[in-house]
Amino acid sequence: MREEENVRLTRTGPGTPAGAWMRRYWQPVALSEELDGVRPLVAPKVLGQDLVLFRDGDGELGLVDRGCPHRGADLALGRLEDGGLRCCFHGWLFGRDGTCLDTPAEPAGGNLAARVRLGSYPVREINGVIWGYLGPGEPPQLPALDCFEAPAGHTFAWKGLLECNWLQALEVGIDPAHASYLHRFFQDEDPSESYGRQFRAASRGTDLPMTKILREYGRPDIDAVRTPYGIRITALRTLDGTDTEGRPMDGSRTHVRVTHQVFPHGFHIPLDADTAITQWHVPIDDASCYWYAQFTSVGGPVDRAEMRRQRVDAVTLPDYRPRFGRSNGYGYDPVEQLATTYTGLGTDINVHDQWAVEGQGAIQDRTREHLGRSDKAIVMYRRMLGEAITAVERGEDPPLVLPAERAAGLRGPVTLDGIGPTEGWAEHWTAVTAKQRAESGWAQAAGTDG
Ligand code: FES
Ligand SMILES: [Fe+2]
Repeated sequence: MREEENVRLTRTGPGTPAGAWMRRYWQPVALSEELDGVRPLVAPKVLGQDLVLFRDGDGELGLVDRGCPHRGADLALGRLEDGGLRCCFHGWLFGRDGTCLDTPAEPAGGNLAARVRLGSYPVREINGVIWGYLGPGEPPQLPALDCFEAPAGHTFAWKGLLECNWLQALEVGIDPAHASYLHRFFQDEDPSESYGRQFRAASRGTDLPMTKILREYGRPDIDAVRTPYGIRITALRTLDGTDTEGRPMDGSRTHVRVTHQVFPHGFHIPLDADTAITQWHVPIDDASCYWYAQFTSVGGPVDRAEMRRQRVDAVTLPDYRPRFGRSNGYGYDPVEQLATTYTGLGTDINVHDQWAVEGQGAIQDRTREHLGRSDKAIVMYRRMLGEAITAVERGEDPPLVLPAERAAGLRGPVTLDGIGPTEGWAEHWTAVTAKQRAESGWAQAAGTDG
């Protein structure tokens, strides 16, 4: 990649081409739980912009610029009172829509307040995530994807800080080959449902442990196709080695994993047979980002408190900063690397991914990389990203910024991780997942798009 292209694809601050593209989409700006305290206000930085998110006296959300329009004081310490957000410097009061409601130090009867406005942005809350729209004009309608349509009880949301550019954070999630190496475990015992261990559980439709499949089939057959929402990625591992008893397998069964890239900066992957993770990668600035994960179950309701309990000890609040990171060597243990895991970085695969993407540098220098066949989806995404940025420069709509009726028709998408017949695998799994969605009680038919 040429240096100019790497700059063009990765920089998202105000006034940049990729920034103009990304601002055409709703962006996750906070988890709902971040506003649970005595003072429902946080000051997120999103795409290089300093913002304040708060609930006003009516419990309604406001998303506004952080600098006070009087003389620029920091509204992150503002007082939540009198139905709005009041600046501590001279007491100016702002409503959630940015109107100035009071300028108490000014002479009574003046009209300064009517001429002042604090920048404000559309905001909405869905299934534990608060979204803001920082772009021009009316915000687009969200597509009817599972993560937005699922009943709240079937969802859980979480986030984490990554100290690197958003694009490399996304790219690890559309790279099906790395799981055979980065997430390799040398033993198969102790398959567990617990956090960060989804690659340790037995794969759907078999008693073959996923650890064994990933370890022994390190050259998946990867395909990637463009879809209306992004990219559908298929990784096939035909089972022609030996089973857990050492008996030869004849290649009549294949492990199939179907994942997706979802525009602008998300991926959509299976956690287990019932649950998918839709994970977005929103820039804080060009050298750091947050991932926001929406867990969505097409089976029964999820145990949110338990899912949170499994994750909260891995981070420090209020930043959702992983406890293991660059500052402590990601917990690397050379003895573990010899005997237990490929990386020596423990069993939490989130730490593995974090090490991989942060190690690429704050913004990966893509002029020095050498891409292979296994990087097919990454190459496809970068091409689509470049096209999307160009489309916005031309005044056109980028992918997934859709007319309302098309947005309402986008379903799913369906993810998959399981073992089934090699012959006719696509028809087999289409039937299995269609039945599962029909029985879910809420998930709609996937339709041709998903
Ligand atoms: S700077 Fe905010 S009221 Fe003066
Ligand atoms: Fe990974």
